[in-house]
Amino acid sequence: MRWSSGSVPQGLRQRFIAHRSIATSCRAVVLTRFGGPEVLEIHPAVAIPDLKPREVLVRSRAVSVNPLDTRMRAGYGRSIFKPLLPLILGRDVSGEVAGVGSSVKSLVVGQDVFGALHPTAVRGTYADYAVLSEDELTLKPPALTHVEASAIPFAALTAWRGLMCTARLEKGERLLVLGGGGAVGLAAIQLAVSIGCRVSTTCGCKSFDQVISTGAEQAINYEAEDIESTLKGNFDAVLDTIGSETTERIGTNVLRKDGYYMTLQGEAASLSDSYGFAVGIPIATSILLKKQFQYRNSHEIEYRWVYMRSDAEGLDEIRRLSEAGKLKIPVEKTFLITEAKEAHEAKEKGRIPGKVVLEFD
Ligand SMILES: NC(=O)c1ccc[n+]([C@@H]2O[C@H](COP(=O)([O-])OP(=O)(O)OC[C@H]3O[C@@H](n4cnc5c(N)ncnc54)[C@H](OP(=O)(O)O)[C@@H]3O)[C@@H](O)[C@H]2O)c1
Repeated sequence: MRWSSGSVPQGLRQRFIAHRSIATSCRAVVLTRFGGPEVLEIHPAVAIPDLKPREVLVRSRAVSVNPLDTRMRAGYGRSIFKPLLPLILGRDVSGEVAGVGSSVKSLVVGQDVFGALHPTAVRGTYADYAVLSEDELTLKPPALTHVEASAIPFAALTAWRGLMCTARLEKGERLLVLGGGGAVGLAAIQLAVSIGCRVSTTCGCKSFDQVISTGAEQAINYEAEDIESTLKGNFDAVLDTIGSETTERIGTNVLRKDGYYMTLQGEAASLSDSYGFAVGIPIATSILLKKQFQYRNSHEIEYRWVYMRSDAEGLDEIRRLSEAGKLKIPVEKTFLITEAKEAHEAKEKGRIPGKVVLEFD
């Protein structure tokens, strides 16, 4: 329902005023076409939409750069996003509540919050003001800076989706993380350790100390060791952040009966990009079902594609663990939001292997 300014009920007036008095447009990093980092444009006055009842306006202080951002910029997901251009990249945000919709109960203007948008959101967080639903945000632990907080939610919610919603890991179970040195891998190790699981992981040389300090009991350096002969196990679940043929073979061979192999590299978006949405999704579904059937028969295991989803309960637990110092994603470098192009370039050329965050001046 839309209210004219003269007919807003008294109880709602204050909430509308809260965001309307701040801004109706703001600076944003806009994508008008797909391509290299050079296609990122700073627009000084992008409209801030009216808040829906359950939405929250966030004054962004820091947004992290996820692989999805650089991939979307290059055209990944174009079957969905091309008709919706121009769009704003960015999933993670940490900032301050600047306005709330009429039904928002848990947050008020002025609170520091962090959270992440759904992968298909068109108006992302690379903007002075971001719009997220109440369920996509939670209070920022005071001990974390905005930069530190912004690095966490998208990666941690992806790990949460796999470990807690798909495999439903329990205390005492064993998890293998293939590619534990990245943001999702580190989040998965810490989430699993927090519930009393034992974690093995593969990682590069430079991530070795990091994965051990986050709680993995075994780290195998994929650059120096033969993973297949080193890994012994009967794992309850495998989270594969790499999704190559090799990691799939390794992961599916070390599971116990009925264990879960979960890859982050599901093919729904890339097949839709190749064949169009109407054909790509049915192809992706048939590939997934075929693999599930094959692995059930050959290995007696469950095969899954895992995608990040918003999850208020998960985000709340992620906040609790971050507050307790049990869930951290190290930030390697920060750029200003006006340097988004340089940040994407540095990430893609592999100059910065760790997490990159964009700060707002
Ligand atoms: N399906 C979804 O919804 C979803 C959500 C989030 C992310 N993802 C995808 O998941 C992947 C990881 O995301 P992220 O945010 O964690 O990225 P990230 O922080 O950039 O981490 C990537 C890490 O992968 C590790 N790596 C690369 N090749 C490896 C190999 N052969 N064996 C072991 N480790 C290897 C590297 O760690 P080392 O330093 O140890 O080499 C690197 O740091 C990306 O491809 C991303 O697009 C999917």
